[in-house]
Amino acid sequence: MTSAIVMAAGKGTRMHSRHGKTMHKLLDRPIIEHICDTLEKLNVENRVMVIGFDGDSIRNHLKDRCDYAVQDPQQGTAHAAMQAVQLKGQKGRTLIINGDCPLITENTYRRLLEKGNEYPLVVLTTVLDDPASYGRIIRNAEGEVEAIVEKKDCNEEQLKIREINAGIYCVDNELLWKYLPEVNNDNAQKEYYITDLVEIFRRHGHKVSALIGDSEELQGINSHAELASAAKWLQRKINRGWMDRGVALVDPDSIWIGPQVEIGQDTVIYPNVRLEGKTVIGCDNVIEEGSVFINATIGNNNSINCCRITDSQVEDDNKIGPNAHLRNGCHIGNNCRIGNYVEMKNTFFGDGSKCAHLTYVGDATVGKKCNFGCGVVTVNYDGKHKFHTTIGDNCFIGSNVNIIAPVTVGDNSVLAAGSTITKDVLEGEMAIGRVRQENKPEYGLRYLKK
Ligand code: UD1
Ligand code: CA
Repeated sequence: MTSAIVMAAGKGTRMHSRHGKTMHKLLDRPIIEHICDTLEKLNVENRVMVIGFDGDSIRNHLKDRCDYAVQDPQQGTAHAAMQAVQLKGQKGRTLIINGDCPLITENTYRRLLEKGNEYPLVVLTTVLDDPASYGRIIRNAEGEVEAIVEKKDCNEEQLKIREINAGIYCVDNELLWKYLPEVNNDNAQKEYYITDLVEIFRRHGHKVSALIGDSEELQGINSHAELASAAKWLQRKINRGWMDRGVALVDPDSIWIGPQVEIGQDTVIYPNVRLEGKTVIGCDNVIEEGSVFINATIGNNNSINCCRITDSQVEDDNKIGPNAHLRNGCHIGNNCRIGNYVEMKNTFFGDGSKCAHLTYVGDATVGKKCNFGCGVVTVNYDGKHKFHTTIGDNCFIGSNVNIIAPVTVGDNSVLAAGSTITKDVLEGEMAIGRVRQENKPEYGLRYLKK
């Protein structure tokens, strides 16, 4: 049985925020969610988040993806771990994780867990040029880890040690609960330090080991500046990965791709594009400047210019934009044209249909090979309820037509430009619904001369 305790109860004073530190976003998701994602990938069975300051936000965000333990007041990292009482009596290994270290990879955790099969306590460490305020790793002449000393408790010699504690541990769960009560708060900060477990384990004759990891991957986030540099590091890593798999990123430094996004070969992405959530993009697409996709599914060979696409699907060979907005469950077929300043919401748009300019299509089903003129509006909302518009195949919707839903328009029909359509239109009909024009001779001239 593998368990994890994630310590995320602290306030994160150096963020100077009203929100808990681990709820700040790193790329497209809160810091804490990155850790949760990794633990799920590792198949860690019991995942306990220790929450306190702004704990409800964490709970509301992660919901039943993990268990929770509340730490109030917050009296240090050992005190945090002690709150995860659900794990008492479990066998196996437990990862104890500082909630502010989201960059640690599955692979590093795997190596830590492997070492945890040999040693009852393993500490993840790294070597820094500037050990800053991290806890220092004290080793004996044989190189064995003897203790971790917090900076505030270090003597002159210890301050010079460059191997630091990353705040991640793998521990035998039964021994953890046996020895946690021995941790005291006899230190500079009057807190219960989880790091004291090292000395306690040794005192009881257990070996403690360390795994030395990559310093950038182990960086903790304490301030907005550190959050930004962690994001930069992750962006470079993700973008490099996609370029290595055949995706063309024209200016990778300005392109932000979330960790769950997938992109096919030979797709070209221009600068200032942001891809988030469970976005899946196929091959041979061209995505131009300013596009933002969140949970978008894009097929192959589309050209999409400066569009916002959220929770929607686009199939193949479409030309979309500039400045189109597709949201809330749109499904665009193949070979469509969706032009500038077109907004579509919860709309199915069939193969070969076109909607080139300044149009709103909401709650609609549109068949194949339809043509929308400029300025068409599906009037789907009466202020209280939403209504559906259904349009068949091969229809011509003239410019500036208002379709007051619910309306059904049959195949091969025409809605004349400027019409306000309130009634169903049958197959092959032309509907015209507009005020008749009256021309008054000389009135124009007289008006202009006034
Ligand atoms: C801790 C380690 C230090 C290590 C560093 C790595 C201790 C005593 N020190 O120091 O050796 O080098 O991490 O980043 O463990 N937390 C709680 N409840 C508390 C206190 C903290 O949940 O009562 C959580 C915080 O929300 C945070 C994590 O534990 O996510 C670490 O706490 P923090 O105060 O940042 O510890 P450091 O001083 O950085
Ligand atoms: Ca920290």
